[in-house]
Amino acid sequence: MKLNIEVIAPRSGGDLAACRALRHRVFVDEQSVPEQVERDERDADCTHVLIRDEAGAAIATGRLLPEGRIGRMAVDPVWRRMGLGRIVLDLLQACALAAGRSRVSLHAQVSAVRFYTAAGYSRCGDDFVEAGILHTPMDRTLDPQSPGVDALLAAAPTHLPQAPAA
Ligand SMILES: CC(C)(COP(=O)(O)OP(=O)(O)OC[C@H]1O[C@@H](n2cnc3c(N)ncnc32)[C@H](O)[C@@H]1OP(=O)(O)O)[C@@H](O)C(=O)NCCC(=O)NCCS
Repeated sequence: MKLNIEVIAPRSGGDLAACRALRHRVFVDEQSVPEQVERDERDADCTHVLIRDEAGAAIATGRLLPEGRIGRMAVDPVWRRMGLGRIVLDLLQACALAAGRSRVSLHAQVSAVRFYTAAGYSRCGDDFVEAGILHTPMDRTLDPQSPGVDALLAAAPTHLPQAPAA
């Protein structure tokens, strides 16, 4: 299965509709997050990462707010636990570093805390409920020596070993 990985800069005219459609499927349809909460006004200000399969369908996404907060991390259910979420996260961190930030933060759904812990994040506050879902605030220091966006894109898999079962 061939992958296409894209970094969409703020206000670059990139395909935000594809990012939003995937987020709608994951957050609104799957997790019952209210649509008006998922659809905020921040997308145009954000850097987005979008991964598509070889048919062009959006299968993983996430965004970085200018203040250094990562959010809207969403992987299509049949593509989970294959490393795509980590690729999106690493790219968003590299974008933050390139923008001069030394730390990034996020609100992790409790079900995803282990995913973020494995990526170097730690709790930075008390749990709270957002959109009806329990969240843990987390952050991490960015390593200035870590690979940049171009190096990550060059190193990312262009194929996954096998297509997931539908
Ligand atoms: C959370 C999410 C983005 C992770 O994406 P993913 O592509 O499945 O994650 P990856 O395959 O890149 O996982 C990277 C590492 O985290 C681990 N991991 C991923 N999801 C995990 C989970 N739910 N629990 C524990 N570990 C997890 C993986 O095992 C992997 O570790 P490994 O390399 O040692 O095997 C994805 O599960 C998702 O979209 N969930 C629904 C939406 C959501 O909850 N978004 C987060 C909002 S805060």
